[in-house]
Amino acid sequence: MYTFRFEWNESHGVGNDILDDQHKQLIGIMNDYYFSMIQGKGDIKAKTYLEQLLAFAASHFAYEEEYLAGKGYPDLKNHKEEHDSFICSIKDFLRVASTPTISLPIDMLKFIKKWEQQHMLLTDKKYAEFISHRF
Ligand SMILES: [Fe+2]
Ligand SMILES: [Fe+2]
Repeated sequence: MYTFRFEWNESHGVGNDILDDQHKQLIGIMNDYYFSMIQGKGDIKAKTYLEQLLAFAASHFAYEEEYLAGKGYPDLKNHKEEHDSFICSIKDFLRVASTPTISLPIDMLKFIKKWEQQHMLLTDKKYAEFISHRF
């Protein structure tokens, strides 16, 4: 069954405890919002949630990019572009959240779910694979 619920599992693992822990926290933040939404509070909590997500994602991305630079990861430029584009989208949602609409929570969840599946489960896994073969 398709669900917007977020849960960290082994398939998110990138072979580094600090990064795995940051990804777990990120998934936790995403899931908190999912629960706010199913309790009917997605609209009121949207702005606070986006601010929290933005702050945490920015610090995680900075850490991850530095880690990848240290490992000489060849695809860092593209990886960073995906991070930057996520930050831009969250800032766009934040602008919308100042005048919340009914569709905002579901649009946000759809975007974040897609990000989890495309970035966390694919793009982040690519560096994990590179590092596991190289080091
Ligand atoms: Fe990443
Ligand atoms: Fe990441």
